[in-house]
Amino acid sequence: MDLLNDWPEPIVPVQLLAESGSNVVPDRYVKPPSQRPSLLGGDDDGGHTSIPVVDFAGLTKGVAECRATMRAVSDACREWGFFQVVNHGVSLELVAGMRQAWRGFFDLPVEEKRKLANSPRTYEGYGSRLGVEKGAILDWGDYFFLHLLPTCVKDYNKWPSLPTSCREVTEEYGKELAKLCETVMKVMSMSLGLDVGFLQKAFGGDDVGACMRVNFYPKCPQPDLTLGLSAHSDPGGLTVLLADDRVKGLQVRKGNAWVTVQPVPNAFIVNVGDQIQVLSNANYKSVEHRVITNAAEERLSVAFFYNPRSDLLLGPARELVTEERPQLYEPMTFSEYRLYIRKKGPQGKAQVESLKAM
Ligand code: OGA
Ligand code: NI
Repeated sequence: MDLLNDWPEPIVPVQLLAESGSNVVPDRYVKPPSQRPSLLGGDDDGGHTSIPVVDFAGLTKGVAECRATMRAVSDACREWGFFQVVNHGVSLELVAGMRQAWRGFFDLPVEEKRKLANSPRTYEGYGSRLGVEKGAILDWGDYFFLHLLPTCVKDYNKWPSLPTSCREVTEEYGKELAKLCETVMKVMSMSLGLDVGFLQKAFGGDDVGACMRVNFYPKCPQPDLTLGLSAHSDPGGLTVLLADDRVKGLQVRKGNAWVTVQPVPNAFIVNVGDQIQVLSNANYKSVEHRVITNAAEERLSVAFFYNPRSDLLLGPARELVTEERPQLYEPMTFSEYRLYIRKKGPQGKAQVESLKAM
C-alpha cells in the first residue's frame, strides 16, 4: 500500500473543534510535557531578546550601505537563522489584500473549504495535519497549501475560487515574493563570499520551485497543552513569512530557549531552510521554530517557501568546503528530501541531521 495516498485517520478541521465551544482540547492535541509551551526558559524578559531587523533600503543606496546590509543578513543567518526585513519593496496594499482574501477563505463554511481537501501526496489544498503517522499527536491549526513554481505545477483549479479575489491576489503576491526571494538569495550568496548568482544557480536558475502555506490557528481553550505548529526547521531553501499583524505566536529556538517573535509592522520574517544550510555547509543554519496557540484570538500567517528545483542533486558548495570545515552533508535531491516531512510531519531538526556525511 502506498502510504501517501491518504490520511491514516479521518481529518477533523481544528476550526470545528474550536467552534464547538468545548473548554478542553481532545487528547490527540495534548503534547507530551517536554513539548508544551512554558514560560520557563522562554522569552519572558520583557521582549529584550528578538530576531534582528534588517532594512533593505540599504541595498538601493551606496556601496557602504549595501555592505552593511549584507553584513546584517550574514550575522542574522549565522546567529539566528531568522531576521525581519523592512523596506522590502512589496506593496502594502497587496499584503493587505492577501490577508483579507485568506481570512475570507477560512471564514467560509467548512463544507465549502472541504471541497478542496488535500491528500498527503502533494499536500495541495485544505488540510489539518502534517505527516501520516497513525496515532500522532496533532497540531492546533488548519492550513491551505498551494504550488506556485515551476509554472507547470501551478493549477488554479486547486486554489479557492472564493473569495473572488483569492486567485488573483495570490498569483500577484507569489510573483512579488519570488522577486523578493531572488534579492535575498543574491544578498546571501555575496555574504557567504560566493558569486552573486551562486545560490540561484544552485537552486536551478529559472526553474526554482515555490509554494505557499496559509496557516490558520483557531482560538485554543488550553494553550498550555498544545502547539499550533510543532517544532521544525523548514525543509526548503528560504522561507518568507507574513505573520499576523496583531497576534503573536511564532517562537524561534535560541539555544535552549524559545524566543517569541514580536512582528514589526509591515515587515516580513525571513528564515534559512535546510537546503541553504546544506549548500552553505552549515555556515548558515536552518533554525527550529514552532507556533504557540492562545485562547483569545485567531491567528493567520502566510508562509512562502522558495525551493530548489526538485530533481537537482544538492550538496555543500565546493568553495565552502575547507580543511578546517570539511564537507558536512551528502548531496540529495529536494524531492527525495521533502518526502521525510511529508511522511513524518514536523520533527525538529532530525532530518537535516540525518544527512550528515559519515
Ligand atoms: C511554517 C511556519 C510559522 C507561523 O509554515 O513553516 O513555520 O507563524 N509558520 O505560522
Ligand atoms: Ni516553518
